[in-house]
Amino acid sequence: MHESVLLNETVESLNLKDDSIAVDMTLGFAGHSSQILKRIKNGFLFAFDQDEEALTYSREKLSKVSNNFQIIDSNFVYAKEKLKELGIDKVDAILYDLGVSSPQLDEDYRGFSYRFDAPLDMRMDQDNKVTAKLIVNSYSYEKLKEIFKKYGESRFASSIAKNIVKYRETKEIDKTLELVEIIKSSVPYKERIKKHPAKQIFQALRIEVNNELDVLEKSLDDSLSMLNVGGRIAVITFHSLEDKIVKHKFNKVCEIDPLVKGLPNIPEDKLPDFKLITKKGIKASDEELANNNRAHSATLRVIEKIK
Ligand SMILES: C[S@@+](CC[C@H](N)C(=O)[O-])C[C@H]1O[C@@H](n2cnc3c(N)ncnc32)[C@H](O)[C@@H]1O
Repeated sequence: MHESVLLNETVESLNLKDDSIAVDMTLGFAGHSSQILKRIKNGFLFAFDQDEEALTYSREKLSKVSNNFQIIDSNFVYAKEKLKELGIDKVDAILYDLGVSSPQLDEDYRGFSYRFDAPLDMRMDQDNKVTAKLIVNSYSYEKLKEIFKKYGESRFASSIAKNIVKYRETKEIDKTLELVEIIKSSVPYKERIKKHPAKQIFQALRIEVNNELDVLEKSLDDSLSMLNVGGRIAVITFHSLEDKIVKHKFNKVCEIDPLVKGLPNIPEDKLPDFKLITKKGIKASDEELANNNRAHSATLRVIEKIK
């Protein structure tokens, strides 16, 4: 089952009130959502996901807590529009717990894991047309190299891309373990024993399949525009590319306009609308790290709308 990461820290950080309107952008198995719902007895929770299994499981789990929630089967990139359709323009708390859940990783047919043999899929949304298989069998050497470098931060992007292109000249790449073998054969042995060489490449393919970084950028802008004064956004990321996006965006909206910075009296309208609640990203405690492997790479950042 999915073990929620930074559960208490995140729910605490949202500063929920009894009547808060909250949004969970990544419902998953409702670990965070259940705790949120318990704290907003006279409020309401909107929760997004696009994974059928997560949606079904969480609907039942949340209904045991209260009825003040609505689950929306959609990519969170459309959250602003979807909420507008429901008459909601402003909310008090927004949570992102990014990436995939443990059951998604462990389900062999989804193709997210380099540990099980499965079709090369990696779609979070089963209606998405782009799969990992399509990418490895049709992208050019240059494009593959670019995504492995950019999204996987792999030092062996070039040789892995080259070997993929060579392999597929004779046979289409169908399965995850087939790809793992190609990756292994492209990385020197001493590097392979340090860490699994497929980890970064699978991450890169997942980001590309689901367009994860663009989706996050756009959605964060929308979320910043939807907050009520006093409202907060909490984001848990699991790799440095995501964290960089969140950190950069949060820092930017908390900056004082450089034109007035340093003035003795800064006009009210030139002061930033947001304040960082976490100056540095929050990491999991030693206790959590000992119990939940996924927590190692997690970073929590929180921002508040102050005017
Ligand atoms: C790490 S899990 C969330 C776990 C959840 N916080 C819990 O405690 O059970 C991330 C979930 O977000 C969903 N997800 C990821 N990206 C998404 C997106 N762009 N739109 C909608 N759901 C997304 C995944 O399907 C997955 O179920």
